[in-house]
Amino acid sequence: MTDAAKPLAGVKAAVFDAYGTLFDVNAAVQRYAEAVGPDAAHLSEVWRNKQLEYSWTLSLMGQYAAFWDLTVRALDYALAIHPNVDPGLRERLLDAYRDLEAYPEVPGVLAALRKRGIRTAVLTNGNAAMVDRAVASAGLADHLDAVLSVDDAQVFKTHPDAYRIALTRLAVGQGDVLFCSSNRWDVAGARAFGFRTAWVNRKGLPDEYADLAPTVVVESLDGLL
Ligand code: LAC
Repeated sequence: MTDAAKPLAGVKAAVFDAYGTLFDVNAAVQRYAEAVGPDAAHLSEVWRNKQLEYSWTLSLMGQYAAFWDLTVRALDYALAIHPNVDPGLRERLLDAYRDLEAYPEVPGVLAALRKRGIRTAVLTNGNAAMVDRAVASAGLADHLDAVLSVDDAQVFKTHPDAYRIALTRLAVGQGDVLFCSSNRWDVAGARAFGFRTAWVNRKGLPDEYADLAPTVVVESLDGLL
């Protein structure tokens, strides 16, 4: 049985969501906050929400597209409903999203996990080219044993086939994995699949998905150690 006070007990692989968990998805808009103006926070929120909505609706339709393309479509929508934001910022915002910074504790926590003999991996909705670039530009490549994309399954999380990629590629069982995400919907999906889960509740959000509770809740990745 899993002990919430010792989330790493018996864990062979710590598998991380990327966007929101390792990388701050609001950092792109924040980088240009002054130029974007007073709608910055809402623009960022709509951009993220639409990106996710497109991933779920496509998956329900049995269709798939690169997450980068969904990210672009979502930004175009977010700009369209914010006419006060200069559409000329589009390329700069996309460039900022390509090279998002990692949260400050990420490299140290990944290194500490590996020191304990726990393998580290990313499992993301991001397509391979998108996430490989983000991992490289944030300097995380040397701290990760595997960078896995749902490209392999051609379906987005929370579909079980997306989580199964981690088992196949890491050659581990469900009970060997601690799946860590800041996205509560992702924690719910991973839990439904059978992983132990850590919800990295960076923003102190209220809980949801009560039937699919996380094994442990932490405020940042430091809480895992
Ligand atoms: C990820 C996004 C969707 O899978 O958070 O990395």
